[in-house]
Amino acid sequence: MTVNPISLKQLPPDLDRDRLPQHVAVIMDGNGRWAKQKGRPRILGHQKGVDTLKDLLRCCRDWGVPALTAYAFSTENWGRPLEEVEFLMTLFERVLRRELQEMMEENVRIRFVGNLVALPDSLQQEIARSMTDTQNNSGIQFTVATNYGGRQEIVQACRAIASKVEQGYLRVEDIDEAIFEQHLYTQGLVNPDLIIRTSGEMRISNFLLWQIAYAEIYVTETLWPDFDRLEFHKALTAYQKRDRRFGKVNNK
Ligand code: IPE
Ligand code: IPE
Ligand code: MG
Repeated sequence: MTVNPISLKQLPPDLDRDRLPQHVAVIMDGNGRWAKQKGRPRILGHQKGVDTLKDLLRCCRDWGVPALTAYAFSTENWGRPLEEVEFLMTLFERVLRRELQEMMEENVRIRFVGNLVALPDSLQQEIARSMTDTQNNSGIQFTVATNYGGRQEIVQACRAIASKVEQGYLRVEDIDEAIFEQHLYTQGLVNPDLIIRTSGEMRISNFLLWQIAYAEIYVTETLWPDFDRLEFHKALTAYQKRDRRFGKVNNK
């Protein structure tokens, strides 16, 4: 079916409102390649990528997807050239400062997950401010993974749990999946139903290792800066065709 881009303001009629993912996670990849294709510096791709994310967030709100999580910076991304890392940190800070007012108006609840204490102080301040200011908003739950690594998250959860055991607040036999989840950065957030990776790479790159145990994976060749509502529509169409069995037998 061809979809008129104008109609993408609202949920396209071929999608089933009752079977939308309740949480979509995106690995925003391909910014550098997008810029390279245009003969421009990689940072231009990151800049354009911010606009893409902003529209995806609005799109989730317009279409009725209640939670979006975006992978902005991995624990491994520190290994990039210093000038790119510095550009990204400054970009995050600038965007946060610029968008906070609008997020308030649009009722967005923003939350950052990752090892935030290792981020530049000025960025940490913007992060803290945005989370505090938006915490009582009742609209879309927007989570940004920054200095995030799934392994690091699991290790810090183990440490927190071990320390509670050591201090006598928790017994070893009480540790179960629910307790474990309470010690993850994503505590309180439903696990993603759908994970999207752009730019064609067939890997997880240390994203939400625990949380995506049963997420549907969708990979598109489209580079992140080009991931628009039409592309999101394609991803949701593919998602709605999946038979989510959760280890059981046919669901359809
Ligand atoms: C994703 O785009 C953004 C971040 C990891 C911050 P890339 O920068 O990884 O772009 P490619 O993969 O090099 O094209
Ligand atoms: C994953 O992309 C991290 C983010 C999107 C923030 P990368 O570009 O860092 O992943 P690899 O290196 O291709 O696995
Ligand atoms: Mg990449």
